[in-house]
Amino acid sequence: MSWACARADSRLALLAFAAALAAAPAAAQQGVGDVVYVPTPQVVVDTMLDMAQVGANDVLIDLGSGDGRVVVTAAKRGARALGVELDRVLLMQARQLAEREKVADRATFREQNLFETDLSQATVVTSYLLPEMNLRLRPKILALKPGTRVVAHDYHMGDWLPDQRKDIDVPEKKVGNPGLSHVYYWVVPARVEGVWRGTAGDRAWEFAFKQRYQFVSGVVRSGSFAGDFERVRMIGEELRFRFGAGAEEREFVGRAANGVIDGKLVGKSRGKPVVERLTLKAANG
Ligand SMILES: C[S@@+](CC[C@H](N)C(=O)[O-])C[C@H]1O[C@@H](n2cnc3c(N)ncnc32)[C@H](O)[C@@H]1O
Repeated sequence: MSWACARADSRLALLAFAAALAAAPAAAQQGVGDVVYVPTPQVVVDTMLDMAQVGANDVLIDLGSGDGRVVVTAAKRGARALGVELDRVLLMQARQLAEREKVADRATFREQNLFETDLSQATVVTSYLLPEMNLRLRPKILALKPGTRVVAHDYHMGDWLPDQRKDIDVPEKKVGNPGLSHVYYWVVPARVEGVWRGTAGDRAWEFAFKQRYQFVSGVVRSGSFAGDFERVRMIGEELRFRFGAGAEEREFVGRAANGVIDGKLVGKSRGKPVVERLTLKAANG
């Protein structure tokens, strides 16, 4: 399915979501705040956590945690997990679920507005919110530590394209996209836009990067040589691309962290690989 179709689908789904929610019985738990409560089906929760490979080293935050199912499922996988929620009845139900599932030591819930939540300790952020809420959160999410994984049920983040998407048949789902769930997965990219310089052996290199979210294009120069590459996907801090041709063909494999891009240049000499360490520093840094 094309991205435009997916967006049109999302708009239709959003109308259905709003209509179904408006028709929900008043006695049902509604949630409070910027979007009403609709639980993510468990099969979708499992897929979300699988896509982010949630495990014992993770700190997961679910934004608008409802009955706590995402947080409790993450805790059962060994993660420390926090749910933030404004609805006190849902908070009580979530804490009861954590007790029942014997993960209350790792699954905690806080009465807090998700827009005011400190996400800096999260390695994984999950949500099932409306698209405009995702867009409002997007700058804060993009400013998180590179490598932070983000998984959203049903709704995307505008022109920040996901790194992965899965569509799951969920026959029992009646709201949002009835019968179908979309799961979107992103990895927060490091910021590398700009000019970087470094030396490998006795050769000076300059890399000029343009970046749009996780996609990087650039020009590599050394002496009279110039080579370019287009729209390479960064995964968190990791950057890998090929440039040049013939004797000047190389691959750069690097990691952008702590103000440098530390990596290696892999070329060939007489058919054999030649690997040189190259640490790039920002030209204006
Ligand atoms: C669609 S439900 C998703 C529940 C849960 N994350 C899940 O996937 O099953 C959204 C939840 O967000 C909560 N919520 C809405 N606006 C909020 C806000 N500003 N701060 C915290 N929670 C909010 C609602 O009460 C509701 O429980």
